[in-house]
Amino acid sequence: MTATPSVDLRSDTVTRPTPAMRRAIAEAEVGDDVFGDDPTVIALESRVAALTGKAAALFVPSGTMGNQLAVHVHTRPADEVLLEAESHLFLYEQAGIAANSGCQVHAVRGERGVLSVDALLGALRGEDDHVARLSLVCTENTHNRAGGAIVPLAALEAVREAAHARGLRVHMDGARLWNAHVATGVPLATWAATADSVMLCFSKGLGAPVGSILVGEAAAIRAARRARKRWGGGMRQVGVLAAACLHALDHHLARLADDHARARRLAAGFRTARFVRVDEPQTNIVIAELEPDGPEPADVLAGLERRGVRMVGFGGRRLRAICHLDVDDAGVTRAIEAFVATLSEPR
Ligand SMILES: Cc1ncc(COP(=O)(O)O)c(C=O)c1O
Repeated sequence: MTATPSVDLRSDTVTRPTPAMRRAIAEAEVGDDVFGDDPTVIALESRVAALTGKAAALFVPSGTMGNQLAVHVHTRPADEVLLEAESHLFLYEQAGIAANSGCQVHAVRGERGVLSVDALLGALRGEDDHVARLSLVCTENTHNRAGGAIVPLAALEAVREAAHARGLRVHMDGARLWNAHVATGVPLATWAATADSVMLCFSKGLGAPVGSILVGEAAAIRAARRARKRWGGGMRQVGVLAAACLHALDHHLARLADDHARARRLAAGFRTARFVRVDEPQTNIVIAELEPDGPEPADVLAGLERRGVRMVGFGGRRLRAICHLDVDDAGVTRAIEAFVATLSEPR
């Protein structure tokens, strides 16, 4: 008897490469990417640069490295970086902005992940010799901690205008920009035009095992390539990974709409449980907040685990579930049943 596999909703990073993706990996044409002659990496970088309307692109091992390289090339030590207080760059990159680039962070709380122009204007402190020089603004879209919220295009455009008018650069953490693109139909290049550089991940909703990309102006990407080598991120026959990313672009981009539909179904199902408040998802992330008189988050996670469903705690009384390539309709049904049953357990 084979055990029923668990429904793993912890993240969209848990996907396994499909058989077709594994074939693409096996058949990849490769070279030495540090010498700049891996044809599959070149194909991937050119394709994503064109898709996002940027001059150049750099394949990197992780989203974190892409974000950190962007900060590094847009700043000088002792500069200040403005970002949203719930952003990945602030919360989940181990003070990398300080450690890797010697900069100070100015974090401001936004509404559903939106960094406002007012916040930007409020962060400007002039030319006084006492204060740090603000040189970079970072945005995130979709916004992970805001539950996969799509930051409105108009808000991003307004921030870009205000930043550029004051000589500031803008970097976007677009780990899940693909999801914003598919959910809205707004072209990737239109989203990307709101920033000087954008990092996008292949290892999340697109289902590749490894890989992210940084896109931007030629000089910035050239500088990022040099820093990537210094940071130990120069990779050799990495066309094997780029092939998985190209395969993901061909086969897994449009289907993100399925993840979004499943996330809406999951949210509707979770709402039928006791003791919980669930936001309407805009993309593939579902956040369930347990009411104060409900069970403890750790007990709910343990109850789900016993029923073969995995989610994660997301701070306070919040739990997160993400739909992805390896979660089908039957998985959503199982997750809803497990959630409702867990929250009905006597305490
Ligand atoms: C919004 C966001 N940015 C950046 C990252 C970092 O990506 P990686 O785990 O590849 O370093 C993540 C990872 O979950 C993320 O959710």
